[in-house]
Amino acid sequence: MIQTLYAIGVGPGDPELMTLKGARLIRAADVIVTPVGDRSETSIALKIVEDLLEPARQQIVTHLYPMKRPGAELETFWQNSAAEIAGFLAQGLRVVFITLGDPSLYSTFLYLYRQLQQSHAEVLVEIVPGVTSVNAAAGRAMLPLALGDERLAILPATYENERLEQAFDAFDTVVLMKVHRVFPRIRALLEDKGLAENVVFARRVGMPDERIHRSLDAVQPDELDYLSLLIVRRSKEEK
Ligand SMILES: C[S@@+](CC[C@H](N)C(=O)[O-])C[C@H]1O[C@@H](n2cnc3c(N)ncnc32)[C@H](O)[C@@H]1O
Repeated sequence: MIQTLYAIGVGPGDPELMTLKGARLIRAADVIVTPVGDRSETSIALKIVEDLLEPARQQIVTHLYPMKRPGAELETFWQNSAAEIAGFLAQGLRVVFITLGDPSLYSTFLYLYRQLQQSHAEVLVEIVPGVTSVNAAAGRAMLPLALGDERLAILPATYENERLEQAFDAFDTVVLMKVHRVFPRIRALLEDKGLAENVVFARRVGMPDERIHRSLDAVQPDELDYLSLLIVRRSKEEK
């Protein structure tokens, strides 16, 4: 009988922010598949779960999912990943795919899932949700994401200014993911919009080198890591 592939969100960094179900399935797995964006990279998700693993018994498989815009060039990587996973499952092995935060929020898992549906429709998939970096950052900053009838938007910071401005105008809270490469532009935009004081910068939340700043001036250039986000609140009464 073919096994189910479990896509497990392992949370933002602190291993204690993993669900009990996720931890149980990872311990029981024969094969742990983890994505990396670059061959030289060690998987962040793998680091989060390392205390649960038994390398002598379990096979750890790293799949390359280059960090490029989705397109034909990337299809081959997803196809290879889907084919290898389908092969493990067909052998009756218990396979988990681990991913940072939650699998349904800007996760490479979603490309794999689409590929599995297209070319390996026999594979059953179950998502085990995880704590997102957004929730973890709001928690560490003691900041509400949404109160009462407020509106919340989560966007890549790489959007052009016009679309970001529309979001700042339309939503009470805007979370900007992947902010590290565009930080100077975002900072200038927030200053122009009079929102520079209403921001929390959160970097590597839940990890030993976590930083939470409530002012953009406090953000040091070497803190602009891939694992960084900004939460922008229209009003700053709760800070
Ligand atoms: C590809 S998305 C993955 C999001 C993830 N699936 C989630 O649920 O949080 C990567 C972006 O998530 C944010 N991120 C992920 N983990 C983070 C952490 N521990 N601290 C701060 N931001 C984080 C950063 O903005 C990063 O650029």
